[in-house]
Amino acid sequence: MSGLPPTVAWSDDGRAVRIVDQRRLPAELAFLDLRTVDEVVNAIRTLAVRGAPAIGVAGAMGLAVALREREAGFAAHFEAAATAIARARPTAVNLPWAIARMRAAVASRLGEPASALRLLHDEAERIRAEDEAMCLAIGTHGLALLRDGMTLLTHCNAGALATAGIGTALAPVHLAARRGWRLHVYADETRPLLQGARLTMWELLHAGVQATLITDNMAAATLRDRGIEAVLVGADRICANGDVVNKVGTYGVALAAHAHGVPVYVLAPSSTVDPATARGADVHIEQRDGAEVTMPLGAAAAPAGAQAYNPAFDWTPARLVSAIVTDRGVHRPPYDFSRGVVATSST
Ligand code: MRU
Repeated sequence: MSGLPPTVAWSDDGRAVRIVDQRRLPAELAFLDLRTVDEVVNAIRTLAVRGAPAIGVAGAMGLAVALREREAGFAAHFEAAATAIARARPTAVNLPWAIARMRAAVASRLGEPASALRLLHDEAERIRAEDEAMCLAIGTHGLALLRDGMTLLTHCNAGALATAGIGTALAPVHLAARRGWRLHVYADETRPLLQGARLTMWELLHAGVQATLITDNMAAATLRDRGIEAVLVGADRICANGDVVNKVGTYGVALAAHAHGVPVYVLAPSSTVDPATARGADVHIEQRDGAEVTMPLGAAAAPAGAQAYNPAFDWTPARLVSAIVTDRGVHRPPYDFSRGVVATSST
């Protein structure tokens, strides 16, 4: 691990999903126990738990705990809970992917609640453990693209706080820190919910990584003027053609990086690759409440009644992505994920 507490774990008695409540960072490291479907859905919608891999893991584990003591009408409860959790947020494929795995694990046992619950718990634990292992593999493959002393830029938080392991985009940074490498990471603050400022800065400072916070509108000039050698970002969905859906602002960073010859590396587990979606323009981009823009951190930043446009994600065309790093290796253009992720040894 990164020395941080797990972002998503089982509670001590195994009856709840214990998450780091990310709404309260950086002021306070607080934990939240989720026991019901409503609690799981609410935690995902309000970004108490966030990041594509983490919401997949939390959704699966939440489905396993929320069905305890629901023996009467188990199959109907399962169907309603699985549907509600899968739809809690629409853009990251990891959430419906994880719930589909849970459905498959229990499909033939819905008439036997005790054994169904055991199967659900075991599958959720497999999804959690696999995510942890995939983060480590991404970090190892990603490290081959970096070297000691590099200056990097990242957007949003694709670190330990976004996964059940050491993160995706930040996984090689954590591994490099363990080796004593001296990397310098510029972190975009990531308006409107400030995942970069609140979470990435907290995580990197905690790990002893040199990190400098910039506002989002500084990214292009910082890429040009501050010796950035690579951009590392995560993904919420990687399409069959290699288009990458990630936190809004990623597209602008990729355009600026391309203009200045800085490589853009996207790091994500194979569970984020969606062969069924042909291209970025086909992805449902979550639209969030405009109040997140007009009232950042609860304080008015715009006149009362101001309207705001608030898409949570954008898509970056594959032509701007220098490499996609998954747990299976480093994938270079031209990308073709129409049959899933094929292992590669290239760097
Ligand atoms: O709205 P969020 O905070 O869930 O958005 C998170 C991102 O966009 C991350 O970059 C992405 O999920 C990858 S996390 C490993």
